[in-house]
Amino acid sequence: MLKEYYRDNLDAYDAKSEIQKLSFYPMMFQSALVMMKTGILKEVHQKRRKGITAKEISETLNLPYYGVNTLLETGLTIGLVYLKEDDYYSITKMGFHLLFDEATRVNMNFTHDVCYKSLFHLEESIRTESAAGLKEIGINDETIYPHLSNLEEPIKTSWFDFDHYYSDRAFPEALKIVFKDKPKHMLDIGGNTGKWSIACCKHDNDVKMTIVDLGAQWNVAQENIKNLGLADRINGVVGNVLSKDLKLPENADAIWMSQFLDCFSESQIEHILANINEKMDENATIYIQDLFWDRQKDFAAAYSLHGTSLYFTTVANGNSKMYHSRDMINIINKVGLEVVEDIDEVGEFHTILKCRRKK
Ligand SMILES: C[S@@+](CC[C@H](N)C(=O)[O-])C[C@H]1O[C@@H](n2cnc3c(N)ncnc32)[C@H](O)[C@@H]1O
Repeated sequence: MLKEYYRDNLDAYDAKSEIQKLSFYPMMFQSALVMMKTGILKEVHQKRRKGITAKEISETLNLPYYGVNTLLETGLTIGLVYLKEDDYYSITKMGFHLLFDEATRVNMNFTHDVCYKSLFHLEESIRTESAAGLKEIGINDETIYPHLSNLEEPIKTSWFDFDHYYSDRAFPEALKIVFKDKPKHMLDIGGNTGKWSIACCKHDNDVKMTIVDLGAQWNVAQENIKNLGLADRINGVVGNVLSKDLKLPENADAIWMSQFLDCFSESQIEHILANINEKMDENATIYIQDLFWDRQKDFAAAYSLHGTSLYFTTVANGNSKMYHSRDMINIINKVGLEVVEDIDEVGEFHTILKCRRKK
């Protein structure tokens, strides 16, 4: 059902005001980021009781008065700071969240470091279904994936912080859901740095894991696994899931894909799931953990997922996105699988679709 926040429910005056704001979103974004990076916002927070002037901040931080004053004025309009009296600024609730909310920090850095310059190529990406912005972060390739572990800083840290921030929060609850079924051997497809496989081995003393990922990523995971002494329980299959020749171990009773299928187009997802269905044990269970924009409680979460889709369009591969759950479930059904359990709000934002082969 369509959420209330997706209805045309602004009056004419508010609609005009909102659309004016859109023209300046990128400028306001940069302004907020620089207020953070220069310490201006922190200074306003520290002096929030009495308030602080632009001149005082400029002297304390040794920054030109012009810049501090300009940023504080844009901060007023964004709603990060407010005027207590005369020229004395204090922090708003929004400013407080910008300073201290971890999700906001992770999202801002991801947007700025990984996506911002690349988004200049959005139109080309849309027209060509290719990641036309990828070259802006130094990669001449069709997808970002083989290059994840070799990205330059701060792009690399911002990418992994963003990816891990969300999946890390879902893992504790996901472990309980998956291990209710007592899996013995699980494939972790798109296992990345090995976090899920390692968490599974810590959660259950008997489970064996096989990570399936691209070569460069498996090398990173393997190092982490070795350092934790888990090499006898977690092994790896290096391969491209889009290749027809990919050999998956046949004796797994569970197949896990977290924040993975959203990295592919609908036709690629169909290929991946059909291939798994063909090769897996007939009684195996597939767990698809992903973020679906229609399943979010809050507008801000759905908004963030739509923003993330544009990362997939211009940076990741040009043809993937954060899906509506209906689109994913349609593909699951099309390849001869069925959803036997559908669990929302895992962690806070994820859904687990537990699937089996249709009998
Ligand atoms: C967004 S990350 C997901 C990470 C992890 N599963 C999680 O929940 O945080 C996607 C992973 O899929 C891998 N990947 C992307 N394309 C792939 C392909 N064609 N074949 C195999 N692995 C691929 C990437 O290397 C990366 O580790």
